[in-house]
Amino acid sequence: MMCSVIPLILVVVAPQSLNFNFFVSFLMLWPALVKEEFSVIDLPELLRSIKIVPVLTIESLDDAIPICQALARGGINAAEITLRTPVALEAMTLVKEAMPDFIVGAGTIKTPKDIEALAKIGVAFGVSPGFTKTLSNCAEENELLFLPGVATPSELLTGMETGRTCFKLFPAEAVGGIPLLKSLAAPFEGIVFCPTGGVSPENYQTYLNLPNVVCVGGSWMVSPALIAEKKWDKITQLTKTALEM
Ligand code: 3PG
Repeated sequence: MMCSVIPLILVVVAPQSLNFNFFVSFLMLWPALVKEEFSVIDLPELLRSIKIVPVLTIESLDDAIPICQALARGGINAAEITLRTPVALEAMTLVKEAMPDFIVGAGTIKTPKDIEALAKIGVAFGVSPGFTKTLSNCAEENELLFLPGVATPSELLTGMETGRTCFKLFPAEAVGGIPLLKSLAAPFEGIVFCPTGGVSPENYQTYLNLPNVVCVGGSWMVSPALIAEKKWDKITQLTKTALEM
């Protein structure tokens, strides 16, 4: 939108009120402005739009689509599928093919090889329990929207050195949860978090109310017990309830 409007304004206004040098400088900056407008999807905005990221561990490939359909019926059209089982990568591919509108993220990224495999599949975002520069660089090289995990201010500083501003707080409840996020807000202004690990129906809303939280991650609506018993309707109901609160 801005890209189309600004040149029009310039053409109309420039001859009267802008000197020639300013006009030339602006035109030279134009490619950068266009690039900014059409830059890759913003990770915090994507996560904010999901709001509650179901953290999904799929043991059986047959369950992948029914679980994601149950989530979608409940109103959450996204999931983080963890790389904790042998079928995880295949499950991501399957869901992406069967449900093109469903946002397939990947979790438990621990090695550059994980990122390379995910880049081939083309997942919407990738989550790691921790932060390393190697992983961060690899994610950038593979153009993966990357959400690395942090648990301390020092890890946060290391992550920020790579230009990142959005982190998973993990394991959220165990490392300080809501009081920790409140304490991080002032010294780390502008940094946002997706707390995950111990987030539950009892506390997720309090997390979401914090200004430095863009979304929460949790497995309560897709717990291993629900999946093992194939309780797809219960998954839908828990998802709906979470969104209604
Ligand atoms: C995980 O790593 O399993 C996620 O953080 C989910 O944690 P939770 O099961 O405590 O929601």
